[in-house]
Amino acid sequence: MKLNTCAFAAFLACLDAGIAVAADVKYSTWMARSIMNRGQGIMTGKGGSSEPLQAGFTQKVFTAILERYPHDPLAPQIRGYLHESAASVAPFMLNATHDALSYPLDRLSNGNALLSLSKGPKTNETATFSSAAAALRQSIDLNRRNGEGGFWYFVYPNWSYLDGIYSLAPFYALYTAGGRKDPEARKALDEIQFQIDLIYYHTHNASSGLLVHGYDDSKTAVWADRITGASPYVWGRSLGWFMMALVDTVELLPRSGCKERDALLRKYNDIARAVLKAVDPATGAWWQVMNEPGRAKNYIESSGSAMFCTALLKGVRLGYLKDAGLAMEAKVVGVRAHGYLTDTFVTQNDKGFLDYNGTVSVCSLNSTASYDYYTGQPLLFNSVLGTAAYAFCSLEMEMFV
Ligand SMILES: *[C@@H]1O[C@H](CO)[C@@H](O)[C@H](O)[C@H]1NC(C)=O
Ligand SMILES: *[C@@H]1O[C@H](CO)[C@@H](O)[C@H](O)[C@H]1NC(C)=O
Ligand SMILES: *[C@@H]1O[C@H](CO)[C@@H](O)[C@H](O)[C@H]1NC(C)=O
Ligand SMILES: *[C@@H]1O[C@H](CO)[C@@H](O)[C@H](O)[C@H]1NC(C)=O
Ligand SMILES: *[C@@H]1O[C@H](CO)[C@@H](O)[C@H](O)[C@H]1NC(C)=O
Ligand SMILES: *[C@@H]1O[C@H](CO)[C@@H](O)[C@H](O)[C@H]1NC(C)=O
Repeated sequence: MKLNTCAFAAFLACLDAGIAVAADVKYSTWMARSIMNRGQGIMTGKGGSSEPLQAGFTQKVFTAILERYPHDPLAPQIRGYLHESAASVAPFMLNATHDALSYPLDRLSNGNALLSLSKGPKTNETATFSSAAAALRQSIDLNRRNGEGGFWYFVYPNWSYLDGIYSLAPFYALYTAGGRKDPEARKALDEIQFQIDLIYYHTHNASSGLLVHGYDDSKTAVWADRITGASPYVWGRSLGWFMMALVDTVELLPRSGCKERDALLRKYNDIARAVLKAVDPATGAWWQVMNEPGRAKNYIESSGSAMFCTALLKGVRLGYLKDAGLAMEAKVVGVRAHGYLTDTFVTQNDKGFLDYNGTVSVCSLNSTASYDYYTGQPLLFNSVLGTAAYAFCSLEMEMFV
């Protein structure tokens, strides 16, 4: 996006010179306005199994935008839309058994906004929000598990995906917020650590430090490694979800005396190191299939790249990369990635809204999970999983001024 990149370059020059300026261009709110204009992130019950994640992810970025810009002229509209998104999901989530059986773990991404909205003045609507949040919480206990206790991601027996952790961990971590020490908080911490350790153990490649998409604990899927059950490829977006899950969860846990937080922070650092190493030197962004960089048919994917950009810059802002000595590099790489994404995938349409291209549609392990599968899935224009991720990394960019 040429014109605004110039404004953005000027803004970066000011950043370098240490001059505090109001950024001319706020891509975060501009993209939020565009998401609202397209009516995305509202659950209808007719949009397939990825609807709850689209809604939950939209709520998360809108919540973050409101925390940063509570007085922005657009804030009332964003607040209203966040409410509308949560209200669209709540009626579908009131039965915990149904939640656990019918929706992927992604459903839990709606829990954070539902919990926070349920604390409003007592009305029938806040009561519904509260019931939906409670049902989602209960659905964690009812979620089906594989032989080792790992949560199934969805309906496929014994399969766990990195993606699901994004919705599970930050929602469950809210139950420990403020350093609660009651049994419910203890249980949440134990479960979060257990689920993350287990999936990490099964999907982690020690030589690259990257994590593959998921694993089959029964090791019978056509793609499953006979020893670990791992799927063969590192899918950018699934690792993007997982990395954001770690940084968001660390943020919610008590800063001191929480060994689970320390362990998550170490994993976040290890992944950050591997993701920094995996960045494509030519573009500064990340491949759709990260363990096959540069191979024919592989390409730079716009949602996973925006997620890495977000997770790296957020870690820089919160000081999570300092001890590992990665903060400087992460900032440089994150800023460069944001510039590339803006130049390459963002366009302004004739109605003045932002469009975003190059986001791969869903990649499922209910497939051959082959290289041809991952590189052959359609690319979508204005997928909300891409636009919301881009709004998130733009927000993190803007946090530096
Ligand atoms: C909740 O969902 C389960 C599974 O779909 C169903 O069997 C049960 O009847 C539902 N309960 C209520 C109260 O609707
Ligand atoms: C609120 O809920 C109560 C009890 O279920 C019901 O009687 C009342 O009509 C509801 N009010 C509105 C405004 O929907
Ligand atoms: C899932 O795992 C359980 C426990 O190990 C096993 O009994 C079951 O047969 C597995 N299901 C499939 C479909 O592989
Ligand atoms: C780990 O990654 C390296 C480099 O991508 C690859 O050569 C190796 O086969 C992978 N190991 C396993 C167990 O998949
Ligand atoms: C989006 O990207 C695809 C693939 O690069 C391209 O063919 C398509 O024209 C683009 N769509 C728009 C509306 O720019
Ligand atoms: C899994 O894939 C099969 C074969 O393509 C398809 O028939 C089935 O509907 C898929 N399952 C789900 C839950 O999407």
